[in-house]
Amino acid sequence: MSDNKVILNYDGKSFEYPIVDSTIGDRGIDISKLRDQTGLITLDLGYKNTGATISEITYLDGDKGELFYRGYPIEQIAEKSNFTEVMYLLLHGNLPTKDQFSNFETGIKKYNFIAEEMKRIIDAFPRSAHPMGVLSALTSALTAFNPKAVDVKSKEEMDLAAELMLAKFSHLCAWTYRKTQGLPLNHGDNNLNYVENFYKMAFRLPYEDFEIDPVVVEALDKLLILHADHEQNCSTSTVRMVGSAHTGLFASISSGVSALWGPLHGGANQAVIEMLELIEKDGGDVSKYVAKAKDKEDSFRLMGFGHRVYKNFDPRAKIIKKAADDILGKLGIQDKALDIAMQLERVALEDDYFVERKLYPNVDFYSGIIYRALGIPTEMFTVMFALGRLPGWIAQWKEMRLKGDPIGRPRQVYQGAEKRDYVDIANR
Ligand code: SDX
Repeated sequence: MSDNKVILNYDGKSFEYPIVDSTIGDRGIDISKLRDQTGLITLDLGYKNTGATISEITYLDGDKGELFYRGYPIEQIAEKSNFTEVMYLLLHGNLPTKDQFSNFETGIKKYNFIAEEMKRIIDAFPRSAHPMGVLSALTSALTAFNPKAVDVKSKEEMDLAAELMLAKFSHLCAWTYRKTQGLPLNHGDNNLNYVENFYKMAFRLPYEDFEIDPVVVEALDKLLILHADHEQNCSTSTVRMVGSAHTGLFASISSGVSALWGPLHGGANQAVIEMLELIEKDGGDVSKYVAKAKDKEDSFRLMGFGHRVYKNFDPRAKIIKKAADDILGKLGIQDKALDIAMQLERVALEDDYFVERKLYPNVDFYSGIIYRALGIPTEMFTVMFALGRLPGWIAQWKEMRLKGDPIGRPRQVYQGAEKRDYVDIANR
């Protein structure tokens, strides 16, 4: 039986701190009394060793390459579930019965439209605007048209705000794409399921009937499932931090969109394809780019490689790599970028630099290959990541609020100037 406390010896005294147990995975030292008792704080840049909360939603084991949504392994969920069911699972904690699923799906369909005034907001953006910037702005603007989703306190109010958000965010994702293409903005079609509805809103052309390609919908559904939640990653932690001030759901999600945009986080899926295209244009010499990634003097990194938690294969990358093969085969597409990606993976995983640092392909390494095969432009890849991560963000925000987590306010170790008196400019 492991110890249930740790002892800190400091300044000639001993201090005991209890250990908080887990169902599986990391146990935590409760240091809530550390500063009062010792005058010390902890310092952990990037929170690499710091738990910010107690959660019941998603579990991942970086060493074993395991990922569970509410206890269900991602491999089983990806194979047997669908994105709407995964939304319910993350938000409500269990797989839905037939009635629960039907009521949930109907609840979302009730809000399958966007206020017409929102079109004037999106019209104001230049077509060249990056879709993630437009998406973050539009998500926050939704607050103005849905005041009910702002000051939510009860579980029922949060579940209503969640259904509103799930319905309207898919429109915003579709509209950010339509904006870049100069296409008219579509509203939803309640005869379709969630993923079909998004696909039609994004890709229906005004001059022809729209065919729902089941191969495309199945691929999109699987990709959205694989991105749905990932415990306390950068964007989810941002949503929790903003929400901890009791900011409304839409504004909290808008902050998550901005965090996800970063190339070290969700923006990596766009950066991976740009990297593969660069390597292809440069003659396809993957060894040259593996060498660049290892060179400390070179800022180049192998995008889509490495992970803060996974020190083994990202289980999502394995599933997406197989799906990429399947979908390109079904669609009859030969993509040089996929060949280069597979060569890059092989060369990197035989190289000590990557092996020693436990750098493996992550979720972003292969996802862009599929998005491109589905006709989604590179700048939209991170929007697709955001659409997938939406139910996770909402579920984490809801858990944080219902559990009553305090407002997030970290401390610091100050190494700036000591106290000094103001000097008039004439005397400086
Ligand atoms: C996502 O957190 C999540 O769960 C995120 C996510 C989710 O679902 O929400 O999984 C989604 O964001 C996946 C990650 C996407 N990002 C990228 O693919 C960008 C490329 N990867 C890296 O920038 C990096 O690996 C991070 C940001 C993902 C993780 O960085 P860490 O944990 O802070 O590790 P680090 O930067 O300290 O790197 C440790 C070592 C360093 O070398 P040394 O100083 O020890 O010599 O590994 C090296 C780094 O230089 N390294 C890389 C590398 N990633 C790390 N070297 C070359 N290429 C890389 N990609």
